[in-house]
Amino acid sequence: MNARSPGRHFLQIPGPTDVPGRILRAISEPTIDHRGPEFVGLARSVLTGLKRVFRTNDPVLVFPASGTGAWEAALVNTLSPGETVVMSRTGWFASLWSEMAQRLGLEPILLETDWRRGADPTAIEAALRADKNQRIRAVCVVHNETSTGCVSPIKAVRNAIDAVGHPALLLVDTISSLASIDYRHEDWGVDVTVAGSQKGLMLPPGLSFNAVSARALEASKTARLARSYWDWRPMLEANVGFYFPYTPATNMLRGLQEAVAMLEEEGLRNVFARHDRHAAATRAAVQAWGESGAIELQCQAPTDYSSSLTAVRLAEGYSADALRALILRRFNMSLGNGLGILKDRVFRIGHLGDLNDLSLLGALSGVEMGLNLAGVPCSGGGVDAAMSVLTGADARTA
Ligand SMILES: Cc1ncc(COP(=O)(O)O)c(C=O)c1O
Repeated sequence: MNARSPGRHFLQIPGPTDVPGRILRAISEPTIDHRGPEFVGLARSVLTGLKRVFRTNDPVLVFPASGTGAWEAALVNTLSPGETVVMSRTGWFASLWSEMAQRLGLEPILLETDWRRGADPTAIEAALRADKNQRIRAVCVVHNETSTGCVSPIKAVRNAIDAVGHPALLLVDTISSLASIDYRHEDWGVDVTVAGSQKGLMLPPGLSFNAVSARALEASKTARLARSYWDWRPMLEANVGFYFPYTPATNMLRGLQEAVAMLEEEGLRNVFARHDRHAAATRAAVQAWGESGAIELQCQAPTDYSSSLTAVRLAEGYSADALRALILRRFNMSLGNGLGILKDRVFRIGHLGDLNDLSLLGALSGVEMGLNLAGVPCSGGGVDAAMSVLTGADARTA
């Protein structure tokens, strides 16, 4: 094995994503006093900029934590021990969130799926209709299920809650969709949006977020789950003056300021369109390879296709982990693994964050070569199909 791999590593997992040089340089600036006057300007810029990214006037809270921390913050600030929550189990991350809810002493009603589509608003509506005594306090949905590459229709879920006239809060995980797939905290009537730094925001892992509606804030006044570090109240109080109740991740906030600037220079709409194009090109490649019968998209509902990643399913008898290991060894590219029931059946191509057409085509070439070398029956022409999408008039519809 060579001691050094020349060229750049292709980090094509669905997050953490490549961190652009501009953001790395911003993070590398000297650390400043988080109680000094310079910090106020930084925090003001970040806290107001985040509202534009989450599409809301509601406060957005920043925690020095991975996304899992923001999941916990969403639950402990709004709910009390023994309360019932409805959770759509659309994949691995939805499962982990429901396990956390159980560990915290909540009682989730789990709405199962086959992990090949998003959440079903009709099933959520039925669960709420059956809840005559309004014991359900929250509905929890993962917007983009990173383990399957399926998106859930958040606005339709809100409509389902409203159709029943049920007071349950709507909590949404956008960890792998924020700043990659169109998302509107306020227009879609979301009460708590959970997000993380390491995917569409193009930052390293380490920051996570809660956007919090007025209803969620009201609920937090009576919620009784134990909370301290995650408590919204001291955070909101300190944020009024653009400070934090404990030492914030100062340098990450510098990076976040740069990330918001980059997203706005490109324009959020263009960012979403770019992700849509790259996802369409990737699906075209997978569908071309799949003419062999051994390769298919994990997501089976075209309305639910994810624009931030594509999960690719191999036929029984072929190992997705062996394929990923081969691709890493031969082509210096990391692909996402199959999680939970999809272990070794699925590999995931991340196409979110700071990515352009040629980087995507490089990644797809690596997959196509890898499939051939690994002996997975693979019809050729996947990269050609992707190029046609990227250069063709059908780029938005494929
Ligand atoms: C949809 C989703 N939710 C939650 C998480 C957990 O976030 P973290 O690993 O940052 O704690 C992830 C991580 O990839 C995710 O993709």
